[in-house]
Amino acid sequence: MSGRFITFEGIDGAGKSSHIEALALWLRARGQRVVVTREPGGTELAEALRELVLHRSMDAMTEALLVFAARRDHLRTRIEPALAEGSHVLCDRFTDATFAYQGGGRGFDAEVLQTLEGWVQQGRQPDLTLWFDLPASLAAQRRQAVRRPDRFEAEDEAFFARVRAGYAARAAADPGRFSVLDAAQPLDAVWQQVQATVEARPWW
Ligand code: TMP
Repeated sequence: MSGRFITFEGIDGAGKSSHIEALALWLRARGQRVVVTREPGGTELAEALRELVLHRSMDAMTEALLVFAARRDHLRTRIEPALAEGSHVLCDRFTDATFAYQGGGRGFDAEVLQTLEGWVQQGRQPDLTLWFDLPASLAAQRRQAVRRPDRFEAEDEAFFARVRAGYAARAAADPGRFSVLDAAQPLDAVWQQVQATVEARPWW
């Protein structure tokens, strides 16, 4: 049987990354095969593109084209083969991030993003998306600990408020796929939400 594709989303500082490893351990303890990966990245080519997107100056269209180029390689050479052989794929960010960051944050045309999404993904969508939702002001406080911010982490609170609105629009458009988690809660309480959400799916 094909594996499940689960994505993790949220503005920078929402604290999703530690829960990905925790969910991988939890699923493996139940005898499931799991691949943990991230975007932009997850393959040699896509990781090279990630370096450019995070650290080189470029406009929103170039950003969008590069993240979709990285996604294409990642899907074709890593995600699709893993799902086909029955592994679950836990991915730190996916296309919702493009709609949130390039669409919401940078104001890039959502219709063009939809066209690229169709070309690149050929109908593939996550089975479940965990959105770690947090007000932009709280996320900014959490990000203060980051010493050398990348091009996104260096953006101001207004940018992240737009990114959050971008996520909200995607979640409203596909409520069956999205699960909204309250990331303002303590780590342990957020983990309980993650576990309960995944366990409630009829897949296991
Ligand atoms: P990360 O720090 O969570 O690994 O994500 C890297 C950054 O890339 C993050 O600030 C969000 C940004 N990003 C986009 O702008 N568009 C995308 O499509 C993806 C996947 C990430």
